[in-house]
Amino acid sequence: MKKILTALSLATLLAVSYVASATPQQDLKEFQSFYQDRFPDTPFEDYVNGVYSIDPASREQWEEIEEFAPYELNITKGEVLFNASFANGKTYASCFENGGIGIRQNYPFFDTDRGEVITLELAINECRQANGEKPLKWKKGHIADISAYMASTSTGKVFDITIPDDPRALAAYERGKKHFYQKRGQLNMACADCHKFYSGNKIRADLLSPALGHLTHFPVYRSKWGGLGTTHRRYGGCNKQVRAKPFPAQSEEYRALEYFHTYMSNGLAVNGPGARK
Ligand code: HEC
Repeated sequence: MKKILTALSLATLLAVSYVASATPQQDLKEFQSFYQDRFPDTPFEDYVNGVYSIDPASREQWEEIEEFAPYELNITKGEVLFNASFANGKTYASCFENGGIGIRQNYPFFDTDRGEVITLELAINECRQANGEKPLKWKKGHIADISAYMASTSTGKVFDITIPDDPRALAAYERGKKHFYQKRGQLNMACADCHKFYSGNKIRADLLSPALGHLTHFPVYRSKWGGLGTTHRRYGGCNKQVRAKPFPAQSEEYRALEYFHTYMSNGLAVNGPGARK
C-alpha cells in the first residue's frame, strides 16, 4: 500500500513539475487538442469564427450579418487613413515591412532589441510618433479602423507567432499564460474558466466561445459597442465581467496576454475584422 502511495505521489509530483515546466510548444499542443476533443465536430480551421464555430444555431444568422458586414465602412475609412500623408509627407507604409500590407499575422511579436512585446496597435501609434504625429486612442476609432484595414489585407495568412530564444520572450509568454489561467475579480474566474473549461456552455444569454481562434478576427465590430473595438478593449470588458479591474490598453500585462493568446492560435489564418453580438 505504502509503495503504491509513494508511486502515486511521485507520479503527481512529476505531473505537477511537468506542467510547470511545459514548453510553449507543449502548451500549444495541449491547448489545441483540448478543443479538438471537446468539439470533435469543429474542423481546426473553423475556430477562426469564434463562438459560431461551435454553435450551428446562431451561425446562420451571423453569416447573414457578415454578408452585409457592418465593418466594411471601417475598412474603407482605415484604408484612407492608412494612405494619408503625415505632416512630414510620409505614410504608415514607411514604418512597416512590405509597406504594411499582408502582415497582420506577424503580430504580436517579441522584439529582442527592445525586450518587449509589440502589438499591431502599438506599432501603429509608434509609427505616428516617429513621424511627429500625436498617438491615437487605443481602443476604438481611427486605430481600430487602421488595424481593420491592415487585417483585411492579410486574409488567409497563417499565424506563426514565435518565442525567440531570449529569456525575456519566454517571461512575457509565461506572464500572458498566467493571466489567462489565473482566477480574478469578485467572481473569481479566469479567462480559461470561461473560454476553455466552460467553453460551449451558456453564461446568461451568451454561449462561451473557445479561446482557440479568438485573435484571428480582431478588431471586432460589436453590436453592443455600436462600432469597432480592439483586442485590448475586449480584454478590458472581459476583466470587468468578473468585476476585476481592467489593465490599461497596451499595458505590458495585456501585451503579454495577447502574445500568449495569439501563440495558442498558431496555425489558424487571419480573417479579421469580424462581427459579433
Ligand atoms: C465570466 C466569463 C468570462 C470570463 C472570465 C472571460 N470572458 Fe471573454 N467573453 C465572455 C463572453 C460571454 C463573451 C462573448 C461571447 C463569446 O464570444 O464567448 C466573451 C468574448 C471574448 C472575446 C471575443 C471573442 C470573439 O470571437 O470576438 C475575447 C477575445 C475574450 N472574451 C477574451 C477573454 C480573455 C482574454 C479573458 C481573461 C482576461 C476573458 N475573455 C474572460 C465571457 C468571459
